[in-house]
Amino acid sequence: MRHEYFWKNEAMSSDPYSDRGNKDLSLGNPQGMGTATPVTSGGRASSAPGGPFLIGDKMTGGYGAGPDILHDCTIAVDRGEIAVIVGPNGAGKSTGMKAVFGMLNLRGGHVRLDGEEITALSPQDRVAKGMGFVPQTSNIFTSMTVEENLEMGAFIRTDDIRPTMEQIYDLFPILREKRRQSAGELSGGQRQQVAVGRALMTQPKVLMLDEPTAGVSPIVMDELFDRIIEVARTGIPILMVEQNARQALEIADKGYVLVQGRNAYSGTGKELLADPEVRKSFLGG
Ligand SMILES: Nc1ncnc2c1ncn2[C@@H]1O[C@H](COP(=O)(O)OP(=O)(O)O)[C@@H](O)[C@H]1O
Ligand SMILES: [Mg+2]
Repeated sequence: MRHEYFWKNEAMSSDPYSDRGNKDLSLGNPQGMGTATPVTSGGRASSAPGGPFLIGDKMTGGYGAGPDILHDCTIAVDRGEIAVIVGPNGAGKSTGMKAVFGMLNLRGGHVRLDGEEITALSPQDRVAKGMGFVPQTSNIFTSMTVEENLEMGAFIRTDDIRPTMEQIYDLFPILREKRRQSAGELSGGQRQQVAVGRALMTQPKVLMLDEPTAGVSPIVMDELFDRIIEVARTGIPILMVEQNARQALEIADKGYVLVQGRNAYSGTGKELLADPEVRKSFLGG
């Protein structure tokens, strides 16, 4: 099946970035799975020794000199997993993602990637370390073509980006069809595909998505979730914020409910879906 070798970074050049693929993840594994439980099994994945693959650990901080938005907030994703962050509007979900990506000066807490302390790194340096981030807003260049957006995504690479672009076109066939169109002419769901594709162009080791299904129809949402699962199966762990809480928790190995910048509930997706308090307060009963 295609996804088994999807992001495999074979035949790479000798440039210093060439090990930025997923050699340490599952792609050498013929099953195309990580060491953790497959994402389709719905949880029970346990943390690897040394902690999760990516963690924002007990983060406290806010914007500039303003008040703290995050209070001791922890979000994490492990190898082979999809982790989902849900919670009411203004809870600090996007702020938490920005903090993990290095867009906030934390007053407390740490961010670690594969055990390495990266709290002080700039977002650019985190991309070079293997992090891909699709922000909630302004996540594509609307005046550029689809293909130019993908090329921009690969800005840190010096090797041949063509194979990766083909992989993205295989994942999102509509983007191949529309590659010469300006991204601003695309539908909401197609734009989100461009945004995810752009982030994948760096061959990230972990992908962070902030509301990838915002503003799309239920059918398009299901399609996007399917594609996200497909990316996760290739061995790229996914940390994502979702407003479609129920649907997202159904595909989540791990879930976090944030309220007012704090962890209110966490558990496997299944546990959260079954929790009466979580259901009543956040899932509409
Ligand atoms: N750039 C910013 N500058 C100052 N405050 C912000 C900024 N972005 C968000 N906030 C504030 O941080 C809080 C959490 O917002 P946000 O993280 O966007 O929540 P969510 O993504 O859960 O809806 C809100 O009170 C919001 O007003
Ligand atoms: Mg948000």
